[in-house]
Amino acid sequence: LREEAVAEIGVVEDLTALQGMKVKYLGKKGELTTILRGMGKLSKEERPIIGSLANEIRSYLENVIATKGEELEEQQLEKRLQSEKIDVTLPSVEPMVGATHPMIAVTQQIEDIFIGMGFEIAEGPEVELDLYNFELLNLTKEHPARDMHDSFYITSEILLRTHTSPVQVRTLQAKEGKVPVRIICPGKVYRRDDDDSTHSHQFMQIEGLVVDRGVSMGELNGTLLSFIEKMFGEGTEMRLRPSYFPFTEPSVEVDIYDPERGWLEILGAGMVHPRVLEKAGYDPERYTGFAFGMGVERITMLKYNIDDIRQLYLNDLRFLKQFQSV
Ligand code: PHE
Repeated sequence: LREEAVAEIGVVEDLTALQGMKVKYLGKKGELTTILRGMGKLSKEERPIIGSLANEIRSYLENVIATKGEELEEQQLEKRLQSEKIDVTLPSVEPMVGATHPMIAVTQQIEDIFIGMGFEIAEGPEVELDLYNFELLNLTKEHPARDMHDSFYITSEILLRTHTSPVQVRTLQAKEGKVPVRIICPGKVYRRDDDDSTHSHQFMQIEGLVVDRGVSMGELNGTLLSFIEKMFGEGTEMRLRPSYFPFTEPSVEVDIYDPERGWLEILGAGMVHPRVLEKAGYDPERYTGFAFGMGVERITMLKYNIDDIRQLYLNDLRFLKQFQSV
């Protein structure tokens, strides 16, 4: 029995199995216990001999099991230490780090520049009334300029705004005739254009509006030049070209000069049309104002030399990774 037990315990490989051995040989129903139980059947002479032999085996086996147990514990610890060992000389894996999307970065830059010039941020709804998107901006139903804004109509009077200019009217109404008004409004706008490298049915605009006593074209010029220099670098040249918008008079298109690409159009602007002021509750005899509107995608594309607007919406990591330092 002793030899059998010792052999069996010798090959045990883990602590659970060892516990099994303990039960098998020394437990209440174990083999050795059974022998000791059966002692009653033995003769008087045999009993002490078998008894002491059994006890000897018991303490021997207890010893063997204890030693084996320590051995196994040590082995286990060794294994764990091995598996948890860190080779500090291995090259590290660089973790993926997120970056600000170029559109967000540019929007924030533009916001910061105008906030620095005393502007506040205003907002308006993307689902807009025809009244605000067109009518109060001097674009009556028959106005031919409506053709320039291919719109997503929801009902005959409700549409997805085609520009951020309705926020001009909403802001003026909310201000109830008080001045000064100095706001910019970033937001999404929608037009029924076919998507291609320069068009998207949804894009971002930033509107600007200043209304006060004595606001002049000169102030519009100065404000925009100041913005452009901060955005595209000190000394960037700007020019105004006459243009037409129903809600401004006069209206201009603003270009900047890039030595490699020449004159680039970046935004539309003008003096707020007296009729727009009047309809919004401002006396055009007392107050004047200017407004401008720019496409954030266009500014982003010009600034970072991106040639396809769709790159800004695809979330392609190979593209986005290039802006990690922006
Ligand atoms: N709302 C015009 C557009 O979307 C831009 C603009 C805004 C022009 C304000 C003049 C003044 O094209």
